[in-house]
Amino acid sequence: MNLVLLGPPGAGKGTLAARLVEEFGFVHLSTGDILREEVKKGSELGRLAKGYMERGELVPDEVILGMVRERVDDKSDGFLFDGFPRTIAQAEGLEGILPVHLVIYLELPEEEVVRRLSARRVCKRCGANYNLITQPPKVPGICDRCGGELYQRPDDNEEVIRNRFQVYTEQSAPLVGYYERKGILRRVDASLSPDEVFRRVAEVLRG
Ligand code: AP5
Repeated sequence: MNLVLLGPPGAGKGTLAARLVEEFGFVHLSTGDILREEVKKGSELGRLAKGYMERGELVPDEVILGMVRERVDDKSDGFLFDGFPRTIAQAEGLEGILPVHLVIYLELPEEEVVRRLSARRVCKRCGANYNLITQPPKVPGICDRCGGELYQRPDDNEEVIRNRFQVYTEQSAPLVGYYERKGILRRVDASLSPDEVFRRVAEVLRG
């Protein structure tokens, strides 16, 4: 089965994806992670994407679809798409590559998005996610898992977070109706604890 995690920035897509990969063995494909890696490498794609990401805008659809096509084909199965598709054009493009069987929509209001993302910290080395309010590291600034240094994403400041939410509302939220009409969308309350969100999604997956 191929699964899509849909929801506003900070809804917990990355956090949930890590648990789903561990428990169900999905292959995780996060377009945000791929783009951040390209920015770090200073590749042509990274240089193109950097400005969009810093402003909290979407990278053009053709660029994103090209990236996905490089990594999956019509025989791919067991993929977990995190942060993709983000527009109707991307969803239609994905349909031309492989079928989507289930979409989990993580619902979270804007104020909670701002609260969570302002407090997010990420490990530079292994990418583990922390939150200064809800999931702080044992030693401030250090990853519990690998001892790496924690940093704040450049797009996790309030002005850019609010812009990302606005962009989400205008360009990505229409995907809720799009997938609902196909009968494959399941809503999950993302304001619950990470364990409870995972439990509810696991229940859906186990049918
Ligand atoms: P991307 O990296 O995809 O960012 P995003 O969608 O804004 O999502 P986030 O990574 O910010 O949040 P998340 O939902 O994964 O939450 P997380 O689990 O980290 O995209 C970045 C940029 O790249 C975009 O702005 C765009 O420019 C570009 N881009 C990427 N994909 C694109 C595409 N398809 N098309 C065009 N452009 C694209 O959790 C957040 C925080 O909350 C953490 O601190 C975590 O510890 C905490 N937390 C998680 N779950 C819970 C919980 N249940 N309770 C309490 N705290 C929680």
